[in-house]
Amino acid sequence: MREGVSQAAYFSQQPQDQVVVSGQSVTLPCVIVGYRGMVQWTKDGLALGGERDLPGWTRYSLMGDPLSGEHSLLIDSAELADDAVYECQATQAGLRSHRAKLTVLVPPTDPVVDGGPVIRVKAHTPYNLTCRASGAKPAAEITWYRDGEVMETAIYSKDGKRELAVSMLPVIPEDKDSGRTYTCRVLNPAAPAGRQTSVTINVQHPPSVTLSVQPQTVMEGAKVLFICSASANPEITGYRWSKGGVPISEANGDSLEVTVDHSYFTDPVSCEVSNSVGSTNVSTLVDVQFGPRLLSEPMPMKVDIGMDAAFTCTWTGNPPLTLAWTKQGSSVVLSNGNTLQLKAVTQEDAGTYTCKAIVPRIGVAERDVTLTVNGPPITTADATQHAVKHSKGKLECLVGSSPPPDKIVWTFGDITLSSGSSGRFSVQTVTSDHGVLSSLVLSETLAQDFQLRYNCTAWNRFGTGTALITLKEQGRILTVSPSSPTKTSPREGGQL
Ligand SMILES: *[C@@H]1O[C@H](CO)[C@@H](O)[C@H](O)[C@H]1NC(C)=O
Ligand SMILES: *[C@@H]1O[C@H](CO)[C@@H](O)[C@H](O)[C@H]1NC(C)=O
Ligand SMILES: *[C@@H]1O[C@H](CO)[C@@H](O)[C@H](O)[C@H]1NC(C)=O
Repeated sequence: MREGVSQAAYFSQQPQDQVVVSGQSVTLPCVIVGYRGMVQWTKDGLALGGERDLPGWTRYSLMGDPLSGEHSLLIDSAELADDAVYECQATQAGLRSHRAKLTVLVPPTDPVVDGGPVIRVKAHTPYNLTCRASGAKPAAEITWYRDGEVMETAIYSKDGKRELAVSMLPVIPEDKDSGRTYTCRVLNPAAPAGRQTSVTINVQHPPSVTLSVQPQTVMEGAKVLFICSASANPEITGYRWSKGGVPISEANGDSLEVTVDHSYFTDPVSCEVSNSVGSTNVSTLVDVQFGPRLLSEPMPMKVDIGMDAAFTCTWTGNPPLTLAWTKQGSSVVLSNGNTLQLKAVTQEDAGTYTCKAIVPRIGVAERDVTLTVNGPPITTADATQHAVKHSKGKLECLVGSSPPPDKIVWTFGDITLSSGSSGRFSVQTVTSDHGVLSSLVLSETLAQDFQLRYNCTAWNRFGTGTALITLKEQGRILTVSPSSPTKTSPREGGQL
């Protein structure tokens, strides 16, 4: 206090720290006793002016009777800009009031939920519900509620400068959450009751699809109906069908009727249903019943005697088939598997094998395959052959087996003949399916011819095969047909 101006001047009321909610009016009291001079207010150290109506500060004025020492500062409809430190000064008395901090609180505006009021979310896909509260001072607190229940998992953040608060609520929506209400409530001391905004979520999902076949089991050539039933949110935009990965362009509805063949047993039919969120593809096979179909044919084989041989044949059929390997001329089942193994083959193993597939109640099919065994010539002939004396006669000797004979030689008496002729004797050779037939032709038979032993021997790279024949005299009446030695089986023949 300075001497001489006003000994007794003092503040009977001073401004105190105050809090005001924006929009409300506030009075900062200042009453000075024993002072008649100039009084002025400062705001953050800046003088507001000496006049009582404070020109330039439209919402500010001094109130009270100055003669009674009243110089209170009235702030009308407080704003954020009014948030400052105020001081009442009696300049001539050198008096300064308490420095009063005026805090202006701003209530949050209605919160904004991104994407509201109906938020479309994808099922099973994480999504952040985001709520923003701006303009509040202090920044608003944000609480999320789901159907009225507080959600504790929200992540809060604020940007102090712009008084912006954000809360993100992570959700992984399920189909059953569609239609749920999420509420974002914001509050701060200026709005203790808070403000809130609600949104509902619309959970979208790609189509859920089931593909059925009617009837379940059919015969090849019958009709079946595929029914593709789907539910989706949002609505279905299309159906696409394919079979074994190949689109069926003419099909575009929720059902497909086809005449099935065996391929429907292995190539799945698929129905792909789409909506704007995605698409779902479901496949099914048809239980088509069909008789045996050959998948791999057995290949004919040629092997050397003593080696191993194997045939494979593969069939498919539905219901599952049974397989049987047999050798032509025998009913013995050699194998029930796809492969027939023959170990260390003999020439007797040569022949035709049959691979037979049986689909119960549906059908039967078979394939033949030949085994050729390379070995020495198999020379067969009837041990006794007949001719009429003094007429033309013939002896026959058949050489089967593989490889074919390099030569066939007839030996009898002191004659050796493999081709051409010698005196009354000549050799003719004919090749047929059964082998090489060699005939020793006698232009006229004589008595001594019926005393000889005829040796028919064939050669190939594996060795020799011999048949021995004797010629018997025949009465004229019996010369109806020459005997056919080719019918003789190798087992009964004269192989040595
Ligand atoms: C949700 O927000 C969290 C936190 O910011 C973030 O880690 C996450 O990746 C967000 N998830 C999605 C789906 O945007
Ligand atoms: C559906 O899936 C199957 C098998 O994965 C595929 O072959 C077919 O092409 C798909 N269908 C469509 C229409 O994409
Ligand atoms: C048959 O002839 C062949 C060759 O000419 C000879 O090697 C063989 O010993 C003969 N066989 C008989 C039983 O005479």
